[in-house]
Amino acid sequence: MFKIAVLPGDGIGPEIVPEAVKVLKAVGKKYGVDFDFREGLVGGAAIDATGTALPAETLQLCRESDAVLLGAVGGPRWDNLPPAERPETAALLALRKGLGLYANLRPAYLFPALAEASPLRREIVEGTDLLVVRELTGGLYFGEKKRERTPSGEVAWDTLIYNTEEIERILRLGFELARQRRKKLTSVDKANVLITSRLWRETAERLAREYPDVELTHMYVDNCAMQLVRWPRQFDVLVMENTFGDILSDLSSVLTGSIGMLASASIGGKVALYEPAHGSAPDIAGQKKANPLATILSAALMLRVSFKLEEAAREVEAAVGRVLDKGFRTADIMSEGKTLVNTEEMGTLVRQEVEEG
Ligand code: IPM
Ligand code: MG
Repeated sequence: MFKIAVLPGDGIGPEIVPEAVKVLKAVGKKYGVDFDFREGLVGGAAIDATGTALPAETLQLCRESDAVLLGAVGGPRWDNLPPAERPETAALLALRKGLGLYANLRPAYLFPALAEASPLRREIVEGTDLLVVRELTGGLYFGEKKRERTPSGEVAWDTLIYNTEEIERILRLGFELARQRRKKLTSVDKANVLITSRLWRETAERLAREYPDVELTHMYVDNCAMQLVRWPRQFDVLVMENTFGDILSDLSSVLTGSIGMLASASIGGKVALYEPAHGSAPDIAGQKKANPLATILSAALMLRVSFKLEEAAREVEAAVGRVLDKGFRTADIMSEGKTLVNTEEMGTLVRQEVEEG
């Protein structure tokens, strides 16, 4: 039996998470695996109910589970809270740190049927299959930050800090993952300006000797942004620090058709966390418009990474592929001649494909 902590959170979270749960239940039935789902409060919803974005019971629930499925946190209602109390910081970052999830995997894979959905031309995005490996518990997000009054006005700073150990473990994961794929690793940095990037690059060079079968390339982050939209097929695995990874993974999502397709797995601790890479989308919340596929694909990553159910993971991914091949689309990936469906209908279609496939 696998215990899954289910944290719907805010905005579209409560609409998309049940769709992934639905698919997991079908997988459980088909493969004879028992999933025990336990729901917890997180984000703004938790602030409203308990006064804090990550209640102690929720963290405890996550620690006692085999994996965590998260929707999204945050929204305009909580935007004016002090930075340290906002759902993004107090729930999401605290959860990542609290569970020791130092690595975030964001696979950008273009389902062939969605080549038309990307704002980029078909011949550019076709064949995109890359993996962004983002460092998740260091760098600017967690370095010292401060805001101070001085006689000449206010001054504020965030600190970009990394030690060798933090750099080494994420790079190592990058090499290992590249080894399981097409054996190409792009280490993204800004070594022409940043001293943390110097340490990053030297560490990558040192580790590369242990992975002679993996082809390592260094790329400056600004160039990488350009290369991703110019010629995404050149990439296999990309590894980078926290902020670069935040930015470039959103950019990569455009290659998949929509950010509504981008799944993620945050790993490194005993319990891993699975969540769509998009946010809570307050502008479309409650309208059944949200695309649940990123969450469903995150559940597939859970099957693969946490539960070692590779066949089931592939089954879910293939089910998504067939639903798209049949022409069903949520609004974000809609194009001419396709059939528009809502959040729930999309979830049901994938579930049916799993049951029948
Ligand atoms: C992400 C999100 C978060 C991040 C926000 C909501 C704090 O953008 O998971 O990419 O910056 O890490
Ligand atoms: Mg982001």
